Amino acid sequence: MAGGLRAAGLALGWGCCLLICCAAASQLEVSMPAVVEVENGGTARLECDFHVPGNGSYSRIDWFYINRNSRVEVCQVMGGRILEESADYAGRLSLGEDRALSISRVTMQDAKTFICHVVTDSHGTAENHTELHVYKVPEVPEIVASSAGISVQSSSIPEIAQCVSRNSFPPPNITWHKNGEQLQPEDKMVKVMATRTRESSGLYTVSSTLFAHVTREDRSSRYHCTLHYWLQGQRRTLESRRVNITVFYPAEHMNLHVKPSPALVKEGDDVQLVCEADGNPAPVFSFYKRELEDNWQDLSSLSEANTGVLNLHHVTKNSSGLYKCQTLDLDDMTQMERDVELVVNYIEGVRVEMDPSSPIQEGGSVRLSCSAHSPVALAYQWENEKNVNVGEGNELVLKNLTFETSGNFSCKVTAPSVQGLEQTQQVAVAVHGKPRIVAISSPLYVRQDEVVNLTCKAIGVPWPSVQWNVKGMAHESVENQHVTSNLTVRVSRDLLQAGATCKVSNTLGFIEERIQLLDQKTPESKGVIIVAIIICILVVALLGSVIYFLHKKGKIPCGRSGKQDITKPEARKDKIVVEVKSDKLSEEAGLLQGANGEKRSAADQSEKYIDLRN
Ligand SMILES: *[C@@H]1O[C@H](CO)[C@@H](O)[C@H](O)[C@H]1NC(C)=O
Ligand SMILES: *[C@@H]1O[C@H](CO)[C@@H](O)[C@H](O)[C@H]1NC(C)=O
Ligand SMILES: *[C@@H]1O[C@H](CO)[C@@H](O)[C@H](O)[C@H]1NC(C)=O
Ligand SMILES: *[C@@H]1O[C@H](CO)[C@@H](O)[C@H](O)[C@H]1NC(C)=O
Ligand SMILES: *[C@@H]1O[C@H](CO)[C@@H](O)[C@H](O)[C@H]1NC(C)=O
Ligand SMILES: *[C@@H]1O[C@H](CO)[C@@H](O)[C@H](O)[C@H]1NC(C)=O
Repeated sequence: MAGGLRAAGLALGWGCCLLICCAAASQLEVSMPAVVEVENGGTARLECDFHVPGNGSYSRIDWFYINRNSRVEVCQVMGGRILEESADYAGRLSLGEDRALSISRVTMQDAKTFICHVVTDSHGTAENHTELHVYKVPEVPEIVASSAGISVQSSSIPEIAQCVSRNSFPPPNITWHKNGEQLQPEDKMVKVMATRTRESSGLYTVSSTLFAHVTREDRSSRYHCTLHYWLQGQRRTLESRRVNITVFYPAEHMNLHVKPSPALVKEGDDVQLVCEADGNPAPVFSFYKRELEDNWQDLSSLSEANTGVLNLHHVTKNSSGLYKCQTLDLDDMTQMERDVELVVNYIEGVRVEMDPSSPIQEGGSVRLSCSAHSPVALAYQWENEKNVNVGEGNELVLKNLTFETSGNFSCKVTAPSVQGLEQTQQVAVAVHGKPRIVAISSPLYVRQDEVVNLTCKAIGVPWPSVQWNVKGMAHESVENQHVTSNLTVRVSRDLLQAGATCKVSNTLGFIEERIQLLDQKTPESKGVIIVAIIICILVVALLGSVIYFLHKKGKIPCGRSGKQDITKPEARKDKIVVEVKSDKLSEEAGLLQGANGEKRSAADQSEKYIDLRN
């Protein structure tokens, strides 16, 4: 403002100079800038320059303003002082050295034309005038976007946003912009409604409302308004913040899919049918399943409240079929639909056939065939009772079956293309036959009159019974398909000679085995053995010395033939040792028994069981 005043002052000074040079001498002239601009609330300086010809002076200056073509006095200046002032300006006027009149605390009411009227004694009167412009810089405009959603299908031109600029002067203009580009009013497409209100303060409030049709793309458009105003001869602008709007548009695309992947759905799964549409707001979704004769069953009640998701829990093969999702746009009532085929994979009717059908003779074989129904390719696997894989493929041939290898077999049916799809069917492969004795405590070394345990272990199907041909206390135990019978007897002379027979029988036959009872050696025989051992040692010593002697004489060469010669008698000697050893073993066993009594035979026999079993 100050710059403007200065510029005006310069222009005035120059004009004045001209007057003084060319016409000053002749008459009185008053020079004033045409316009003075001042901000509301500031101080306006009204310059009034004149020169009285012949170095005379003025007698009085009258200041007026113009109100409806008539003059209203502001003040009177005499002798460099303000003498009278109107009530409107009381306390707001001051006079400069150069006789300029300053008005402070300017308001919009001060925006008038002021006249400086100069009165002289010698050269009469003269006057000029200045227009006082009061301005108020507008504040950043406020913008409010339409809060309701705007439909792309709206029949009237919908309101987008409103822009307001309060208390400025002179009233600014408002323009509208979308994504930075100015919007021009366009018939039936873009409309702008502006209002201008003059407040009691004299300042203006202007507002502008933008109406425009929107498209889907406008969901991401950004709108703003711009204020345009003049400040000291220059165009200025102020921009509002940018706003976006909610655009309602019907769905253009939709799709329906099965989660998880439709190829992997199996019985028992939880499946989701997901329906998606790109409309805003989301349309209303409905789900249907095709029943017989093209009837559609409404499944909407199973779907989550308008999320477009249909939950199917624990699907069965009956859940397979054609499903349809329908969308209804509430805005324009348009419908769209998509369908999807749900395939629930399953395995059912798993059957195992046996050829021949049970039971099988021991040593025989059986062919197991497994079959099942499924819409997908199947793989078969066989397992025994211990869940050990015993074969692949839908047939399993079991050869040379024994009581021990019989039992339950499982056919495990899987679908390699559908993870986790599996069914199992068990079949009992029964083997029957006459019993078999698997362990018996024979031979058993005993002493006469001693009490011993005779043990006989057998297997057979049907379940066998065990009989002994001697009297005693029999005790039976069952373990792992086997029956074990213990007979506690006192060893009589007869028993020692004849032995005992264990007879195991079932409906298919019987088997019997004799337990050989061997008398343990008497101390006499022990003496014989000791003598034999001593003789043996003596023979070895003798042989050793003979060999040594021959060697010293050099009759035996140190070659192979010589070695062979020696080996032979040594082999013989070995034989003798082995025989003795075996004798000694039984003797030691006898000694052991002597020491431990009846318990010995138990330990000994259990060792034998292990041998027999394996
Ligand atoms: C008023 O002042 C201006 C600027 O000095 C001048 O150009 C103009 O001629 C003056 N008007 C009168 C009527 O003296
Ligand atoms: C405002 O608009 C009017 C009419 O179009 C124009 O004369 C004036 O110069 C404009 N003002 C601004 C500050 O752009
Ligand atoms: C404007 O856009 C922002 C992000 O781009 C979004 O979060 C907001 O919801 C939008 N407002 C309206 C009214 O659409
Ligand atoms: C059958 O099994 C028994 C006992 O395991 C065996 O001794 C026999 O050699 C087997 N026979 C055949 C033909 O495999
Ligand atoms: C075999 O399966 C049947 C039931 O299928 C069961 O009762 C039987 O105990 C099983 N046999 C074995 C030896 O596990
Ligand atoms: C039979 O005798 C053996 C050895 O004495 C013993 O280990 C086993 O427990 C006995 N069994 C029964 C059923 O008494």
